[in-house]
Amino acid sequence: MKWEPRFATGDAKIDDQHRMLFTASEQFRHTLEAGEGKKTYDLFLDFLTSYCEMHFAVEENCMFMHKCPVATQNKHEHGLFLRLVDKENVRFRDEGFDAALATKLLDTLDHWLESHICRIDTRLNEVLV
Ligand SMILES: [Fe+2]
Ligand SMILES: [Fe+2]
Repeated sequence: MKWEPRFATGDAKIDDQHRMLFTASEQFRHTLEAGEGKKTYDLFLDFLTSYCEMHFAVEENCMFMHKCPVATQNKHEHGLFLRLVDKENVRFRDEGFDAALATKLLDTLDHWLESHICRIDTRLNEVLV
């Protein structure tokens, strides 16, 4: 999945961070499809966790600063998403790599990004002028 203009939030830095998340997901999907997922899944999970933590902090600050009406909901959904990634990370450390579960995580990530950005993050447009 790629970034599209309908994902624009009105903040160039936040849009760039969203682009980065779509790109990372797409790249790791290629890696998985090439049968190379096992080698770098730990790096991908670490990247996803730290990049999301960074991005969520930037975006939450921006929403609270501009009194965006969905600022609290945004923070709540970020928390739920981080828990989901953390759960897969713990499962992976315990049970090891599973290509089907890695694909499932990517599908969830793509779907979550699309849904969350369209419903929540794009509401920044209302307060950024
Ligand atoms: Fe968000
Ligand atoms: Fe976001």
